[in-house]
Amino acid sequence: MESEKEIIARGSLKQLAAALSKAGMLIEASITDDMLKEVDPSALAYELIEGKSSEETLHIVKREELQKAIDRIMEQKQPIKIEVNRSSDYKPLAAEIDAQYKIMTREAEHTNGTVNDFVLYFRDRLDRMRQIIGTHNSNGQFLQNLAHINDYASGREVYIMGIVSRKIITKNNNIMIELEDEEDYAKVIFMNGSSKEAQELYTNANSITNDEVLAIKGKISGPFVIASMIVWPDVQIKQQKKLEQDINIAFLSDIHVGSKLFMEKNFSKMIRWLNGDADHSQMELVGGIKYLVISGDDADGIGVYPNQDKDLAVSDMYTQYKMLFDFIDAIPDYIQIFIMPGNHDAVQRAEPQPPLPQELIGDFKKDNVHIVSNPTYMSLHGLDVLGYHGTSLDSIISAIPNNSYAVPEKAMVELLKRRHLSPIYGGNIIVPSKKDNLVMDVVPDILHMGHIHKNGTAKYHGVTVINSGTWQGRTDFQVRQGHIPTPCIMPVFKSKDYTVTSIDFNR
Ligand SMILES: [Fe+2]
Repeated sequence: MESEKEIIARGSLKQLAAALSKAGMLIEASITDDMLKEVDPSALAYELIEGKSSEETLHIVKREELQKAIDRIMEQKQPIKIEVNRSSDYKPLAAEIDAQYKIMTREAEHTNGTVNDFVLYFRDRLDRMRQIIGTHNSNGQFLQNLAHINDYASGREVYIMGIVSRKIITKNNNIMIELEDEEDYAKVIFMNGSSKEAQELYTNANSITNDEVLAIKGKISGPFVIASMIVWPDVQIKQQKKLEQDINIAFLSDIHVGSKLFMEKNFSKMIRWLNGDADHSQMELVGGIKYLVISGDDADGIGVYPNQDKDLAVSDMYTQYKMLFDFIDAIPDYIQIFIMPGNHDAVQRAEPQPPLPQELIGDFKKDNVHIVSNPTYMSLHGLDVLGYHGTSLDSIISAIPNNSYAVPEKAMVELLKRRHLSPIYGGNIIVPSKKDNLVMDVVPDILHMGHIHKNGTAKYHGVTVINSGTWQGRTDFQVRQGHIPTPCIMPVFKSKDYTVTSIDFNR
């Protein structure tokens, strides 16, 4: 009887043959399962198809050719050697400081995605937003439930709150939204009036998105509420914190290890910089880095979009992560590193995303490296840092006027105003858990994201907003979209003066 191992090995050869036949390739009969023991068949198929001449209609893969392709893959698996020469007189201040951090993960509980799960999810969102909006100074007005709102007489002033379930432009060019709470709904009209105030309100109403929670002040008029004011959950002014010891925090995202466009030389240069190979003028900055936050798209992944294998330099997923951790290993041990997944990483796509699983981490283990969920709240030396990959920025940029891929920080501010990391339902996949873990219940001191591949920083009500760009060159997709990324620029936040310095590793 065949052992279980033999059956799996046979499966690999079958898998390889199936992948090759689609490209008009066959395998020589002398090729056996045991040749494939060490390699991933899909990675091997990719190597072989790459090597096939386009004129050939039928190609038979010989033993030697297969062995060469296997050798090339095994070569990719060799550990990356990052030459780090740390000078003996480099004495980074951060190495003398004890780390003080707390990780507050925002993982989703498992749900079955039933209608009831969604109802509970949106109820929780509404409930928690009600608490946030309830803390606003609203001149003595209290939020009213939507129950019976349609029975009120015209002229009555109301202050209502709900989830935006619909937004349309009416025949008369007014904006109408439907607000829903647990019990009822209201139709709210924003008049396209000519006064300055009316125009301002109308412009603001234009940026209302589906599924966000907000409050409206207005007057009943027949079956409608005529709005006079929008109250977003928003953030109150955050005061700058004075820390016991000043520290610096570096931010990375969208490294895309494994992509043909991963800028490995520049990334290695950045790793050497973290080890003190820096200009004299930057020594204080680099030596003060105590924390490094990486917010996703750590590796390029496989099968993220159709025909991605054409864009991969390393087609084996495990090798991609092995390479990533080889780089991470070369970062000084006194720097605490927090690694989140993004939409390219090999974890569940629906957000909140769990941390990278052990099978991708392998036997890599270091006390200063923390594998965390997306999103994650971190307290770093007393600073509240919220890291999120930023997948929802796509839907925000397309839904809100005057937003674009050139200014990701603006879209991030829109999320802060909504106190939610992913307000528009359906733009990106969300796990409908009993608790909406994408609500920003705590206003962070620093909000960090990536995903857009464009650096950007802003200050909003005292919150430092950082998008840390990418380490991947311009993709064909970005060329078609007219989007210009800003690779190899690392932002570093200084707690001493709350400034962000961008270090350019392009030269
Ligand atoms: Fe990315």
